[in-house]
Amino acid sequence: MVFFKVGAGLSAASLPTEFESNVTKINRASAINFRITSDKISRAQFYSRFTQHVPIVFACFGFVSQNSAVVELIPDSYFAPLDLPTIFNRVAPLEVDLGCGDGSFLTDLAERSPRRDFIGIERLFGRVRSACSKAARRKLTNVRVLQIENSYAVEYLFPRDSVAVFHLLFPDPWPKWRHHGRRVVTAEFLRASHRALVRHGEFRIATDQLDYFEQIRRRTSAAGFDELADNHWDSMPVTTFEENFSSQNTPVYRLSLRKVS
Ligand SMILES: C[S@@+](CC[C@H](N)C(=O)[O-])C[C@H]1O[C@@H](n2cnc3c(N)ncnc32)[C@H](O)[C@@H]1O
Repeated sequence: MVFFKVGAGLSAASLPTEFESNVTKINRASAINFRITSDKISRAQFYSRFTQHVPIVFACFGFVSQNSAVVELIPDSYFAPLDLPTIFNRVAPLEVDLGCGDGSFLTDLAERSPRRDFIGIERLFGRVRSACSKAARRKLTNVRVLQIENSYAVEYLFPRDSVAVFHLLFPDPWPKWRHHGRRVVTAEFLRASHRALVRHGEFRIATDQLDYFEQIRRRTSAAGFDELADNHWDSMPVTTFEENFSSQNTPVYRLSLRKVS
């Protein structure tokens, strides 16, 4: 048996027929593993036929992934703050979408604001891939997406005084009382966000969970943030989750904060 690991952008349909017929198991993870049995053709035959098609296979792979790969941010080090001017090749105000999901909000906002830079943080690979594809399709040079935990990114990857706006839109609600400890907005998270924000930087939060909203509000007032009355929510792009909530008439609670000390 021969195992091939190829990039996630390639599907079985793009393989030549003789390989397609030999694909016995397709396993999607961070890449697709093609398990190819050698009972129909010998290993030597397989290699010789496969190598004839290598340029086509890699051309397909390169075509699908080249732009998305530019959008996905893979830091040189996960133990040092990001070098933002090098990443974006300029110095511009930075907005960060924490838990950016499929990247709809991130890319809509970035398209509207070409003079600002945007980083989406998301822990799920599939959503990172969707967000990268959206940015690549629109040829947005001011967007990067990083697959990592929100709290880790805020605490360790954003330099002090580097972020103009954090967006935390519909964070996982963890409604059961015994799961409240998994909620992302903790005192430590707020302290780290405060440190990463520029002077008078903003933190915009929306949730459909009233008790989570109230908990966040109590915590932010003790963490060096002021509430802003005029928060321009109406002029912001709609997120994918927000769209679902509005179609079900679910109330949404919003908080706009400004760093004050
Ligand atoms: C309810 S969805 C909201 C997505 C998007 N903000 C929206 O409004 O459409 C929450 C998103 O945050 C991501 N997420 C949850 N916890 C996270 C964490 N600790 N670090 C990074 N991403 C996280 C989830 O994978 C999911 O995509």
